Amino acid sequence: MKNNLNNVRNNWGDYINPHPAVMVVAKRPEITFVKGKGSWLWDNTGKAYLDFVQGWAVNCLGHSPDILLEAITRQASELIHAGPGFFNAPMLQLSDALVAHSCFDQVFFTNSGAEANEGAIKLARKWGSVHKQGAYEMITLQNGFHGRTLATMSASGKAEWESLYAPKVSGFVKVPQNDIDAMRAAINNNTVAIMLEPIQGESGVHPASHAYLQGVRELADEHGVLLIFDEVQTGMGRTGTLFAYEQSGVQPDVMTLGKGLGGGVPLGAMLIKKEFACFEPGDQGGTFNGNPLMTAAGFAILNALVAPGFPEQVKAKGAMLAEGLQTLSARYGLGEVRGCGLLLALDCAAIAAAEVVDQMFSLGALVNAPRAHTLRFMPALNVQKSDIEHFLSMLEQAFASVIEKHAVKGECA
Ligand SMILES: Cc1ncc(COP(=O)(O)O)c(C=O)c1O
Repeated sequence: MKNNLNNVRNNWGDYINPHPAVMVVAKRPEITFVKGKGSWLWDNTGKAYLDFVQGWAVNCLGHSPDILLEAITRQASELIHAGPGFFNAPMLQLSDALVAHSCFDQVFFTNSGAEANEGAIKLARKWGSVHKQGAYEMITLQNGFHGRTLATMSASGKAEWESLYAPKVSGFVKVPQNDIDAMRAAINNNTVAIMLEPIQGESGVHPASHAYLQGVRELADEHGVLLIFDEVQTGMGRTGTLFAYEQSGVQPDVMTLGKGLGGGVPLGAMLIKKEFACFEPGDQGGTFNGNPLMTAAGFAILNALVAPGFPEQVKAKGAMLAEGLQTLSARYGLGEVRGCGLLLALDCAAIAAAEVVDQMFSLGALVNAPRAHTLRFMPALNVQKSDIEHFLSMLEQAFASVIEKHAVKGECA
């Protein structure tokens, strides 16, 4: 019986799981990654890859930065875990630092972005039950992404998830992004909060306009509903400021973080303004929340991200990458370049983005395709300019060979 598992095929065409003891939730390539440093990863055969995915926009200072190694090593020798019922020093340091560098007053730590959003949903519902006659409905955006717990999948506006894991958690109303009239029309007496990403990352990097965010803030104030920004992907310096909300002229009431917060270790957070604090002891928690090893890592990362000149160099490198992508787009008749800082996307017109991803993988580079015809770029925030140049020349090679392959076959990619 066990041996047969080696031969089990799933319903994804010819994909065969090369490691049958690992549950299949993604089509993973056969190689194993064994080492990473900065913008580079190495597999078990010794092949090097220039990494512009960075663990899904997680390793904001690249692979294994020295400051992270030092913080984790030092903390591991002092205290790894005491439990969520107690304070610990790194938890306090990181809470104070996040409060000092944002418009928020209080922090709740989690293990992931989805868990931070789940916490924000609970906070909104509790707030609605205490302050808004039991209102519980949340308005979220079509094509938005908030995570993979049942509630955050229900909050997400991913069309492919419509019927997955039915029945969904109820109470989420979806409206199109950048349509203030649709948002206004969706608000009713049962609305407790609006939750959105300032830039939708998983949908293919689609920014909410600043005018839209300002309009949403006004609507939230007018109707007394919470405004929650999911900055799991846009936060921690990714867009050229520590948080994306800073560029919009709007302060949300609640913000969630994940990904870059731990710089590679699992850490998320929900930040709130103190007037919205409504949890009572026992309402929310989790065994690892505020774990000192993770928060020590987060504190080291945050200090590096707020160092003088750091955000400016993110903007400069983002502009350099965007310019290179524009040049490629013009040369090969591709589409729009979108995004901000080092969260960028390129539409590939008729070319299948997955083919470019595969070609880049063969050449020794990692890039992500969040949509069938869109590539997304999320390199380390301290990526070297020479690595951006190198990456762009590999990308040009990849496009040229995909286009040539299809020209030979006389078809569209
Ligand atoms: C905007 C946003 N929110 C939430 C999440 C979920 O975070 P996690 O995968 O850490 O649960 C993601 C992950 O891609 C995200 O991009």
